[in-house]
Amino acid sequence: MAAVTPTRTQSPMAPSFTETVEPIIRRIDGWLADAIAAQSMPANLREAANHAVLVGGKRLRPLLTVLCCEALGGAEDDARAPAVALELVHAFSLVHDDLPALDNDLLRRGQPTVHAKYGEAMGVLAGDLLLTLAFAVVSRGGCPAAVIGELSSATIGMINGQVYDSLGGFEPDCRRDLDRLRLIHENKTGALLVAACRMGGICGGADPEQLRRLTTYGNAIGLMFQVVDDLLDVTQSTEHLGKAAGKDLSAGKLTFPGVMGVDASRAHVQELLEEASTAIAPFGASGRPLAELAEYMAVRTR
Ligand code: IPE
Ligand code: IPE
Ligand code: MG
Ligand code: MG
Ligand code: MG
Repeated sequence: MAAVTPTRTQSPMAPSFTETVEPIIRRIDGWLADAIAAQSMPANLREAANHAVLVGGKRLRPLLTVLCCEALGGAEDDARAPAVALELVHAFSLVHDDLPALDNDLLRRGQPTVHAKYGEAMGVLAGDLLLTLAFAVVSRGGCPAAVIGELSSATIGMINGQVYDSLGGFEPDCRRDLDRLRLIHENKTGALLVAACRMGGICGGADPEQLRRLTTYGNAIGLMFQVVDDLLDVTQSTEHLGKAAGKDLSAGKLTFPGVMGVDASRAHVQELLEEASTAIAPFGASGRPLAELAEYMAVRTR
């Protein structure tokens, strides 16, 4: 098996927050490596799966799951299976998003994409493996049934979003660019981020009011995350991002900067950040890491 060297890059996180989350991210990396290692599969598929999951990645979704669980007084380990499963679904979504039939990208996390390195057939099959492994992890992990429901609805939401983004299929009354854009972003990106929060909340024993607050927070950061992704596509270089910049315009994608301009998109990021922070304010000190993570997600540059 080829050696896998995860790549970490400088981030605009506050140093105290980095100190809090770096050890969690390192444990998440270990959980992911273990989940792939425990599954029997051919060596070439294992190499592609390791490349797709372990080489880089900010781990924002599993981090959210852990922090939401802990915000409610749950233990980190209670969030392990859903956190791993969600990152596996995310990795699957990226492998397939990069395929020639979708975004046709050769660079991801500063490395060749899975299909660029291992061929298109392996890109399809490694994605299939990661998606299926995600559900194996939650079904074995002693998670509440509601967690499996959250994961499947969010995965279908992400796939729906990818279809709207790449193939259309909007209802006749969804005609305005801004309405279409919200529908695309809330599904292709928001769905997994909302699920990250809700699954963490469920594992932390959230009551209905707490789950409602985490859902509002997740919806706001979910949309905000893709608005930032669209902004980075037009404001950063390929080298800095580790994935192709300027792709959305050339591919004719509907994006926030394309529809409302860069300045209004930045202002919208601030509004969504405000909404997210307000939703979790009643959690007090235990919600502080979530507030800091939202702040980082608003100002990230890659
Ligand atoms: C990229 O997600 C895909 C989008 C939903 C915009 P991330 O920016 O979280 O990707 P990694 O996991 O850190 O590479
Ligand atoms: C895709 O959005 C998000 C998913 C993979 C579901 P993008 O196509 O904008 O993501 P990047 O920019 O390639 O990471
Ligand atoms: Mg795409
Ligand atoms: Mg893409
Ligand atoms: Mg993008």
